[in-house]
Amino acid sequence: MTTDSTTEPRVTGHYDRLLAAQYTWMLGGDIERTAAGQRDLLAPLLPPPRDGTAVDLGCGSGAQTLALADLGYADVLGVDPDPTLLAELRAHAAGRPAVRTRETDAVTAVEELAPGSVAVVVCMGDTLLHLASPAAVDALFAGVTRALRPGGTVVLTYRDLTVDLRGTDRFVPVRSDEDKILTCFLDVARPDVVEVHDIVHVRTRDGWVMHASSYPKLRLAPERVRDRLAAAGQDVVHHERGPRGLWCTTARRPHGGVSR
Ligand SMILES: C[S@@+](CC[C@H](N)C(=O)[O-])C[C@H]1O[C@@H](n2cnc3c(N)ncnc32)[C@H](O)[C@@H]1O
Repeated sequence: MTTDSTTEPRVTGHYDRLLAAQYTWMLGGDIERTAAGQRDLLAPLLPPPRDGTAVDLGCGSGAQTLALADLGYADVLGVDPDPTLLAELRAHAAGRPAVRTRETDAVTAVEELAPGSVAVVVCMGDTLLHLASPAAVDALFAGVTRALRPGGTVVLTYRDLTVDLRGTDRFVPVRSDEDKILTCFLDVARPDVVEVHDIVHVRTRDGWVMHASSYPKLRLAPERVRDRLAAAGQDVVHHERGPRGLWCTTARRPHGGVSR
C-alpha cells in the first residue's frame, strides 16, 4: 500500500481493518448487477467511439472498472490503494482482458500517466471525498487534466456532505441481512470534514459481535467541485444530483489547450 500527502492514512487503515471485506456485500452483494447499473449511468456520458485507455480512480471492487470494460474500452486501469479490493476486482474481471490494476493512490496514479494519453478518467462512488484535503483534490484535478487527451472526459460521482445532519438523522442503516448489519454514523468533525463511523454487527454462534471503525471524509460542496474542475482547465458539461443523492459532474479537456 502506498501513501503520500494526498492520501489519508486513516482512510486506507479503515478499509484495511473493516470496510474492504464488507464492501461488495455493502453494495448489495452482486458486483455484476452493480456494474450493470454503472454501465447504464456511464453510457450516455461517454458516447462512442470508446477507444483508448479508461482509468478508474478508487476502483474498489470494480463496479466502474467492469462497466468501462463492458462499454468497449480495450484498456481499463483500475487504481486503488487497497490490495484486498484489487484482488477481488481481478477475480471479478476474469474473462475481461481489458482490465489491469495498479495498487496506489489516485494522485500518484494520474501523475504516472503520460500527458495527453487517456480517453476517460472516472472517480466515482465518493472516492473523491476520501482524499486527504481540498488541496489534494486540486492536485488530482490538475493531474487528470494533464493526463486526458484533448476531448477526453472525466466523470465524478460523490455525495454532498455539507448538509448539516442532526440528532438521529446522523444514523444511516446501510444494509442488513440475517447474519450481518451495517450502520453508519456521521459526525461533523470540522467545517470541512465529517467523521464516518461504520458499525458492523455480525451474527456468530455466541451471539452478535460488533466491529467498529471510523475515518474522515471531505465535505465538498458540489459547486466547489464544479468550480475547481473548471479552474483546472476543464469544460464542465454535466453537473446534477442523480439517483440515491449522488452528484454527478462530467467535464472534458478542451481541444487546443486547457481553458483557464
Ligand atoms: C467508497 S469506495 C468507492 C469504490 C468504487 N468506486 C465504487 O463506487 O464502488 C472508495 C474507494 O477509494 C479508495 N481510496 C481511499 N483513498 C484513496 C486514494 N487516496 N486514492 C485512490 N483511492 C482511494 C478506497 O480503498 C475505496 O476502494
